[in-house]
Amino acid sequence: MKKYLLPLAAMLCTVACNAPKPSPAIPADKAVEAKVESVLKKMSLEEKAGQLVQLNISVLEDDTHEAIDPAKLEVIIGQYKVGSILNVMHDAAHSREETAAMIRQIQEKSMELIGIPCIYGMDMIHGASYLTEGSLFPQEINLGATFNRGYAKWMGDAMAYESRAAQVPWVFSPVMDLGRDPRWPRLWESFGEDPYLQAEMAREETLALQGADPNHIDAYHVAVSLKHFMGYGVPHTGKDRTPAYIAENDLREKYFAPFLECFRAGALTAMVNSASINGVPTHANAILLTGWVKEQLNWDGLFVTDWADIDNLFVRDHVAADKKEALALGINAGIDMIMDPYDPTCCTAIVELVKEGKISKARLDDAVRRVLRLKVRLGLFDNPVWDNEYPDYACDKFAQTSYAAAVESEVLLKNNGILPLNERAKIFVTGPNANSLRALNGGWSYRWQGSADEFAPQYNTILEALQARFLHVTYEPGVVYDETPMAWQNEDASGLSKAFAAARGADVIVACVGENSYCETPGNMDDLNLSAHQKALVRGLATLGKPIVLVLNEGRPRLIGDIEPLCAAVVDVMLPSNYGGDALASLLSGDENFSGKLPFTYSKHINALHTYDYKVSEHRETMEGSYNYDAVMDVQWPFGYGLSYTTFAYSNLQVSADSFKSSDVLRVSVDVTNTGKRTGKEAVLLYSSDLVASLIPDVKRLRGFEKIELQPGETHTVTFELPASALAFVGADGKWRLEAGDFRLSCGGLGVMVKCTETKVWETPNI
Ligand code: BGC
Repeated sequence: MKKYLLPLAAMLCTVACNAPKPSPAIPADKAVEAKVESVLKKMSLEEKAGQLVQLNISVLEDDTHEAIDPAKLEVIIGQYKVGSILNVMHDAAHSREETAAMIRQIQEKSMELIGIPCIYGMDMIHGASYLTEGSLFPQEINLGATFNRGYAKWMGDAMAYESRAAQVPWVFSPVMDLGRDPRWPRLWESFGEDPYLQAEMAREETLALQGADPNHIDAYHVAVSLKHFMGYGVPHTGKDRTPAYIAENDLREKYFAPFLECFRAGALTAMVNSASINGVPTHANAILLTGWVKEQLNWDGLFVTDWADIDNLFVRDHVAADKKEALALGINAGIDMIMDPYDPTCCTAIVELVKEGKISKARLDDAVRRVLRLKVRLGLFDNPVWDNEYPDYACDKFAQTSYAAAVESEVLLKNNGILPLNERAKIFVTGPNANSLRALNGGWSYRWQGSADEFAPQYNTILEALQARFLHVTYEPGVVYDETPMAWQNEDASGLSKAFAAARGADVIVACVGENSYCETPGNMDDLNLSAHQKALVRGLATLGKPIVLVLNEGRPRLIGDIEPLCAAVVDVMLPSNYGGDALASLLSGDENFSGKLPFTYSKHINALHTYDYKVSEHRETMEGSYNYDAVMDVQWPFGYGLSYTTFAYSNLQVSADSFKSSDVLRVSVDVTNTGKRTGKEAVLLYSSDLVASLIPDVKRLRGFEKIELQPGETHTVTFELPASALAFVGADGKWRLEAGDFRLSCGGLGVMVKCTETKVWETPNI
């Protein structure tokens, strides 16, 4: 173990000692700090250790699993002095009142026995995921597809408000992992594959959740936990919680970028990546936790572990021999709170480690300060619970926003003219996703693995929404899912022939395929292709000669290259939540217009899973087998792709100067005209390409986006302010650099060249 710690410490010093101390990511507040110190100085070692531990609510449940056992509460708070509790009882959403009463009970006991409020944390992922009547929104991947920052903000506003209404002051959101590997079962929890899109949306959500002042969070806002810090989304195997191998320059340039944006926006806490990067479990990575964040950003927030990840350091990763060694490793690397989640003796182990000198008193106090500071910032010492009114809880406005987000996020990928559908058409609806709210919502919906049909039957499935909007709708699923949680990949295809027979009388077939809900490791799978049964359904239907509208309802882009040519239209609705069926009916009927664009690359071949910012050498060879470095990646649909019922023309792409220096800000403008007959929204995407660089440049990178709405014939000029530093990259030495030479800026198929006249290397780790 010592062998492992020493080089880490040495490297950490190289990073930290060379860097000037930056101004704090969250400005310190004198009154907050004074309160923290006044509490800290009165605390015993046992009380300090307890503050570093977070346990699952199950440790407090009585035999009914629906209420707190007072005796257990007495032990957990009184004896172990535990500082935080998380999750929901019985893995199920509860009402706002039940949740509030449970937290109130914990808070009263905590104030009575240790005089320090407990902090309750909950996984609110796409709205109030764990409150029965709360508002749910499309998952983050859908919000990414809107390319509309407003939805990240509006979801954040509602999520904060409804969480606080249930006495929950801390949410484990936003998810910041880049969805760059379609095999990974948590891709849908992110805003997509691009660092800039992710950073922009997550910053909006963070600001909405926390409000304007991170030192004084009011009773309508909550603390965020950015997660999962970092590099979690690109496991080498494609499976959840497995090792990633990421070059250091990529780590800083791409994976760190969204976190940096949110730390700078005042994010108060972050949860750590459960897996490892380049062989180092992230929970033991002092360079990243303490070096990159706490020191280089001068961040005084709190790092919480992910679920049982201290245990994983010895049980799974074998970088520690036992629990105590793992605790010392994690806490010394920079962990401040341990989501244990079942074992309160973790508190005793921390006490022993401090007495044995394996965790210094200074590190202990630093971690405790971070926990106390969070509680002070949230106002929990003054108001461990609060009695504010929350009249807008589950209001119509939140519901309308959820619907609007679904409309803007469902992506039209192909339309040979069959859409919009005539309301008198005889529509045959089929597929395992046609009549499922569970599938529309995905995981983190009322239950961890998703269970919307059980909790929210009042909303419309796709089938119900189509029946409400169209006159002649018939249905036969053909394939059905096994609804047992964790068994989501099992399907029953015994209804195929029945579906083929039922489809005969139809004018058009709407085939709803994809995935049932899953979350985390249970979402692992071995084949990215859409299931064989579902492909057989589409192939069989195609023999009938009727036009097929393929609806993809899935958390990641399942491969469909062989069945796509059989379909007249394709819509990817991803995970649009409770109003996703209504949104689809409005879009298919033409009541609403499509404007979503893919926030990820939709791959076509299993051996060609790429992202849009690939290197030229990753090109596909031509059919003849010769090398063609001008070839573009052969994908099903590229990042940023999405059709509409109207058309847009781009013209007049201009940049404010032909050349620039590193301190300049470029103004880039483009005219966008609605050349069709319908009103439509368009996501205008600005890219840059560095034509020659000392490290192989990406073919292009997203640098700006704006969503606009245009009437037929209307033209709008979109202007982007592009700081030259945004065109920099991280070089092989880990330093940010902007190199003299040519850049191409592109937007809507147009391009303009611009020249950088100086090479600049930044000595600070972040620019
Ligand atoms: C997940 C986290 C989640 C935590 C608490 C973990 O298994 O990886 O995303 O916040 O559990 O529920």
